[in-house]
Amino acid sequence: MKDLNTKKVIITGAASGIGRATAERFYKEGSTLVLIDMPTEQESELKAMFPERMTYIQANVTSPQGLEAIQAEINSGVDVFINNAGITRDATVHKMTDEQWDQVIAVNLTAVFKLSRMCAVKMKEQKSGVILNAASVVAHYGNFGQANYTSTKAGVIAMTKTMAKELGKDGIRVNAVAPGFIGTPMVRKMPEKVITMMEGKAPLRRLGEPEDIAAAYAFLASEDASFITGTCMNVDGGVVLG
Ligand SMILES: NC(=O)c1ccc[n+]([C@@H]2O[C@H](COP(=O)([O-])OP(=O)(O)OC[C@H]3O[C@@H](n4cnc5c(N)ncnc54)[C@H](O)[C@@H]3O)[C@@H](O)[C@H]2O)c1
Repeated sequence: MKDLNTKKVIITGAASGIGRATAERFYKEGSTLVLIDMPTEQESELKAMFPERMTYIQANVTSPQGLEAIQAEINSGVDVFINNAGITRDATVHKMTDEQWDQVIAVNLTAVFKLSRMCAVKMKEQKSGVILNAASVVAHYGNFGQANYTSTKAGVIAMTKTMAKELGKDGIRVNAVAPGFIGTPMVRKMPEKVITMMEGKAPLRRLGEPEDIAAAYAFLASEDASFITGTCMNVDGGVVLG
């Protein structure tokens, strides 16, 4: 992918799953990485995977101290910021607690807003930058037991469009990626029949791989996507087609 080797890319939730695959992809492209995740025993593993051009920051995107640490990184320059960190706290609506609601809103929506706002200030000064947000296909059609999660992902899509409108004149592009069923370790552990059902729902008849999502982020971050903003790219094997 042209030009990514000159970019400083900050990724939240980079220690596992899609975030880690995205870090690998940008590292291969030659980007300089700032990887952010909760305090984790995976730090040394990440340092071994990315021996150079990588800074690891242990930060909770919902805590003032975590945001302060990320702000310092943004202030020293940021070309691409990927709001990937996300959580689920599933329960059907009558059983969902305030805590389950609040936790998911805090990570998946409020942190995305606060971090994007920090980026907007710095990127405006730079007159360039790309913000990429993790949505989900369930934002489009809802999902049993996920009133909290689906609300955040639909919110992320609307926020992406609004920020794209506001920030385009400053040379800032804002896009979202909506993964379908992705074969992260969590999904791969599910019973065979659930996986078969997921595969059957996608016209391409397979689960996605974290690398499929990483490829979409790499494209959207690159100059090849220089005329693309405010979009939500479904990377889902066609599952939203129903
Ligand atoms: N896996 C899928 O099928 C799928 C589908 C649609 C959307 N998504 C979205 O893609 C993103 C990545 O998903 P994944 O499957 O790789 O998840 P994952 O659980 O493997 O990784 C998420 C990472 O975010 C980190 N994180 C969570 N809370 C955090 C916080 N407060 N501060 C900092 N880091 C935090 C976790 O420690 C973890 O490393 C999420 O936003 C998710 O909603 C995933």
